[in-house]
Amino acid sequence: MSKILVTGGAGYIGSITTAELIAAGHRVVVFDNLYQGHREAVHPDAAFVQGDLARPDDIRALFAQHPDIDGIMHFASYTLVGESMQQPLKYLRDNLVNAANLLEVAIPAGVRRFILSSTANLFDKPERIPIEPDEHIIPGSPYGESKFFIERLLHWHKEIYGLRYVCLRYFNACGDTPTIGEDHSPETHLIPIVLQVALGQRERLTIFGDDYPTPDGTCVRDYIHVVDIAQAHIRAINLLADPLTKIQSHYNLGNGRGFSILEVIDSARRITHHPIPTEIGPRRAGDPALLIASSEAANQDLGWTPHFTDLDAIMRSAWEWHHTHPKGYLQ
Ligand SMILES: NC(=O)c1ccc[n+]([C@@H]2O[C@H](COP(=O)([O-])OP(=O)(O)OC[C@H]3O[C@@H](n4cnc5c(N)ncnc54)[C@H](O)[C@@H]3O)[C@@H](O)[C@H]2O)c1
Repeated sequence: MSKILVTGGAGYIGSITTAELIAAGHRVVVFDNLYQGHREAVHPDAAFVQGDLARPDDIRALFAQHPDIDGIMHFASYTLVGESMQQPLKYLRDNLVNAANLLEVAIPAGVRRFILSSTANLFDKPERIPIEPDEHIIPGSPYGESKFFIERLLHWHKEIYGLRYVCLRYFNACGDTPTIGEDHSPETHLIPIVLQVALGQRERLTIFGDDYPTPDGTCVRDYIHVVDIAQAHIRAINLLADPLTKIQSHYNLGNGRGFSILEVIDSARRITHHPIPTEIGPRRAGDPALLIASSEAANQDLGWTPHFTDLDAIMRSAWEWHHTHPKGYLQ
């Protein structure tokens, strides 16, 4: 049975992926400094090592304790696009150096499989919608650029050390499971913010611009359920177990269709029975009208299709977590 290291496995996507890995029969070690993560989010059957990728000694201690790690899913990262526009080196330097620190210990330890949780923020000016994996890479922020740096790091570790890797690029992770969910501080994602209005924690939701060239004038985005994301990571790492598997180095993951901000709000109104008051604010700089990823290649090569294609089903799963955990993990 393989042992997978999940960096950032106490965070939103990493903790749910850990639970899915365990359900699929893998052994898991979670490594997280709890900068954003929550110890309570880590599945009880996973080993937990608290440590920081910025500290090579922590990584060496992790591998000394778990010398049989044979694959890595790398989620640990600074993740905020907006913050990266204010503190670029926190992203361009730290996200890159942390990944390099990890590889520097993992390669001599014999790790040969690596999945990077990358981002569709690599495609700031797509020429085609839906966005194909071979779209021109124009990162939209230092955050997106830092993921591209790591993708290049992996490319050279493949060329030089034979590391097998896949980068999964996606937009808006969303939805929850009944027991593990999204608890970020600050919260920047639309669905949890809408649900904070339904919980009475915010008065109203500001919609940034309603005059975009989309059917209802609000931005359209690709929302992909966190369990679907987890399943794509698991499929990719399983396929990498066979060195002869023909697999690309990067895939886009998407829901198959986009949803507008108004569609998201309407869904939240249906599921929560709350009126969710809104106000229209000015457009935000750099927000494209329409962003949707094409998952065709992931479908063909990984055999992956999203199960949560219905917005109400996504919203229901998010509401189930948020209304039973109104303060997140701080109950
Ligand atoms: N949430 C999304 O919509 C989305 C979309 C595309 C890609 N991603 C990527 O998926 C990954 C997970 O995103 P998330 O929303 O779960 O974020 P998150 O902040 O909830 O999880 C990241 C985890 O990494 C940990 N961490 C951060 N720096 C660390 C370090 N130096 N050492 C050890 N642990 C560290 C944090 O404590 C946290 O638990 C990120 O790499 C993000 O870039 C997320």
